[in-house]
Amino acid sequence: MQDLTIALTKGRLADKTMELLTRAGYSCDEMKESSRKLIFRNEEKKVNFFLSKGPDVPTYVEYGAADIGVVGSDIIMEENRRAYEVLDLGFGKCRMCVCGPKEAGELLQHHEMIRVASKYPNIAREYFYNRKHQTVDIIKLNGSVELGPIVKLADVIVDIVETGGTLRENGLEVLETVCDLSARMIVNQVSMQMKTERIRELITAVRAELEKEGKLK
Ligand code: PRP
Repeated sequence: MQDLTIALTKGRLADKTMELLTRAGYSCDEMKESSRKLIFRNEEKKVNFFLSKGPDVPTYVEYGAADIGVVGSDIIMEENRRAYEVLDLGFGKCRMCVCGPKEAGELLQHHEMIRVASKYPNIAREYFYNRKHQTVDIIKLNGSVELGPIVKLADVIVDIVETGGTLRENGLEVLETVCDLSARMIVNQVSMQMKTERIRELITAVRAELEKEGKLK
């Protein structure tokens, strides 16, 4: 049996992914035991699992270091790596939004030249340039993006909104929705040809679990 390697997004997404994979028959006891280890194996199933930062998951998959990856659709859009997107896993649901103070809504209506801060410069550029045809100045930040409009670095931000709590606590609001997001399974294009049976079997088992939960799109 050929080995399969799965790249998981460290954190909450990895936990949810492992719950789903376990139900689908791809468990990993080793992973429950350690908190600093990065790579794990299910010998019986011949599956390796490793944990990485979200933006690196599509990179591992494109280069074939992982056959399969599970990552948010925000990262898939932002990184724009070559891979097949095979499943919407139905968790990690949130929205990519343009947010800011209420007054900034006006600037969006009138297509003004505004400053946009984001961890997702490619998504922000695509949205403003190609969808809204608005020329903007995009400033890349690495986190706590909500600070941008508060300290007047930017007029608005393009960021993930899940509960809306961070926005509320910082006096900001959703001004426009860019798209809905959720966790996706991606597959290396060569692995799909070379390990078809193994990958198909895994996808079928995961799909069956999603179907049971009524989460299959
Ligand atoms: C994300 C995102 C928002 C927040 C949204 O940040 O960038 O800041 O979560 O969630 P909410 O709508 O439920 O409040 P994350 O916690 O990943 O940290 P970061 O800001 O450092 O990127």
